[in-house]
Amino acid sequence: MKGLILSGGAGTRLRPITHTSAKQLVPIANKPILFYGIEDMAEAGITEIGIIIAPVTGDEIREAVGDGTQFGVDVEWIVQDEPLGLAHCVLIARDFLGDDDFVMYLGDNMLEQDLSGFVNGFHRSRTDTLSPTLEESVRDMPSAQILLAEVDDPSSFGVAEIGPDDEVVRLVEKPDDPPSNLALVGIYLFDSSIHEAVASIQPSPRGELEITDAIQWLIDDGRRVCHEVLDGWWIDTGKKDPLLECNRLVLDILDRSVAGEVDDRSSVEGRVVLETGARLVNSTVRGPAVIGAGTIITDSHIGPYSSIAVDCVVNASEIDNSVILRRATITDVPRLTDSLVGRDTVVTRGDSRPRATRVMIGDHCNIEIE
Ligand code: G1P
Repeated sequence: MKGLILSGGAGTRLRPITHTSAKQLVPIANKPILFYGIEDMAEAGITEIGIIIAPVTGDEIREAVGDGTQFGVDVEWIVQDEPLGLAHCVLIARDFLGDDDFVMYLGDNMLEQDLSGFVNGFHRSRTDTLSPTLEESVRDMPSAQILLAEVDDPSSFGVAEIGPDDEVVRLVEKPDDPPSNLALVGIYLFDSSIHEAVASIQPSPRGELEITDAIQWLIDDGRRVCHEVLDGWWIDTGKKDPLLECNRLVLDILDRSVAGEVDDRSSVEGRVVLETGARLVNSTVRGPAVIGAGTIITDSHIGPYSSIAVDCVVNASEIDNSVILRRATITDVPRLTDSLVGRDTVVTRGDSRPRATRVMIGDHCNIEIE
């Protein structure tokens, strides 16, 4: 089984962060989203991974991932010149995938459950299909397995309709009138029949070759598509609020580790990771929270669900429920909450009110608030 991670796309819903950086490299608990997917694959025993990248953000992703050694996998890079859809990614990965089964993973999706359960389940359902003749066995074997999650806003996703015999009967991409509340999670398992499907479909109204349409093509062609409904959480991190939610969920399962410096006027409460080289001066950190190496926090309070990356400076400020990217400086901000702050950003205090601050600002900005 091979892995295909989709790490291209323009990330329009995370602008301005994505004007200067790939959405898959935005950190969750100080680790790029993409790394969780690669680690999950490695744990499921998948060591040959193709990563689809876009020309603009590809180099940054290549640099962050390297050759895959840090994850114990081999990485092959596949450049998608234009964002022509998820099924188009399968099309251009044809040489890498060969005729192997593969798992396709959207690089901005995160889920609580391990991938290994799904991978093993697909493998089992394919090898356990024992029909009277070889031809019938091949016909009855599932060609794809999709994962579904119950959501409140199905119109924002691909949606599945399940028939009375628990088989997937129809899939529609972002329907106005959704047939169910079961969204397609961005993790799919395929055998080689998907190649014929992606080559047979036409672009959707948004001009993309949709993987949803390719799976529908398999169903229409008489292939079996199995499904599983997720137990744990799943988040498409492509927008600020889901990203912050994901950060909270990951911080919630963090183990405490205080390796940085804490002076005698500071305190670290609860599940906090203070990396080596981080420094607290007259400050409190109340977990769950993570503070990156080289970050200096002075006269401040860092509240729950904060992820502060490496080499940041926080002075006389209060922060909670926020993701702060590296080398940001936050000074005299009475309360920064629900925020995503880009790299090299300066947030400082002006004289005016109101006191609450909610921002989503891009890399290299210099913003004066209040
Ligand atoms: C894509 C798929 C959609 C799926 C979603 C999961 O949507 O097209 O079917 O439900 O990922 O994250 P997109 O992110 O392209 O809007």
